[in-house]
Amino acid sequence: MLLPSPRGTLGAALVSALRGDGPVPATGAHDDEDDLQLSLWVLYELHYRGFDDVPGTWEWDPELLRLRAALEAGFEAAIRERCAGLVTEAEEQAGEQDDVVTALRLIAEADVPALSSYLHRTATAEQYREFLMARSVYHLKESDPHSWAVPRLTGAPKAALAELQYDELGGGRPDRVHQQLFADALTEAGLDPAYGSYVDLTPAPVLAVNNAMSLFGLHRRLVGACVGHLAAFEMTSSLPCRRYAQGAERLELGPAVVRYFDEHVEADAVHEHLAARDICARLVDQQPALRADVLLGAAACVLLEADAARATLDAWEQGLSALRAPEQERVA
Ligand SMILES: [Fe+2]
Ligand SMILES: [Fe+2]
Repeated sequence: MLLPSPRGTLGAALVSALRGDGPVPATGAHDDEDDLQLSLWVLYELHYRGFDDVPGTWEWDPELLRLRAALEAGFEAAIRERCAGLVTEAEEQAGEQDDVVTALRLIAEADVPALSSYLHRTATAEQYREFLMARSVYHLKESDPHSWAVPRLTGAPKAALAELQYDELGGGRPDRVHQQLFADALTEAGLDPAYGSYVDLTPAPVLAVNNAMSLFGLHRRLVGACVGHLAAFEMTSSLPCRRYAQGAERLELGPAVVRYFDEHVEADAVHEHLAARDICARLVDQQPALRADVLLGAAACVLLEADAARATLDAWEQGLSALRAPEQERVA
């Protein structure tokens, strides 16, 4: 993957710096949410597979880390503010005596825009492809952000996370790695399965969903949020995946698309229990102080996904594309 196109003054300066054409921006000052989320996404990607046009040594450059920290401070504060209400509500309903699984379930059951119902019954094939393109930013690195938690856990939650990730990463079979199943689905839907190929088209709310996972994964102090996010992700996956599969069948997008989502109907019903009971609840048993962060991560999963879904549905209901226009079209 090559560096994506910047979306504002911060991104432009960052991309120039990574190409060796200028200094690293000294502050996190940015134009708008697009500029912020894309810049943060670029900085995080240096810790995953990186960019073909950026030397690997940039990963631990202190000035880049300083810039990232500046952006993360604002992003984390925004996430905490966005999530406070849902977390409090779940805690109140669950009651203080209750275990964390009940609170997680209440968060996972929050009322969110029904993107899956729309894709099931209403979406056109073109809209479904837009959904796959936007989702590819995550699913081509599916599970990777939560893998950062492995060395930060010990005992029961570590063993359970390893069990869950073993499944996500193919159980020893490269063709069964969920990232690969998604790449196969893209190919069959007539799309580009290359890692990162649709980042430029991906709107800010979807990048924010991805950036939250990296924020939680890359900071040891946020390990509770990382596994809480995972739990909510798995707890809100099974039923929507059934609808996505049925939508793909209705639109005849091909067996690989159906198979990807079908695979997640049953797998995530199992993962849900592993993540909530065996990872999150056991971690909170070990470290009760992490309970609030576990719920924060869960709420972030649900609410950032809901924001992205609402933006997508709004665009579609107005007859517009939910994706960003490619650079040349926006300039024209
Ligand atoms: Fe998966
Ligand atoms: Fe899963």
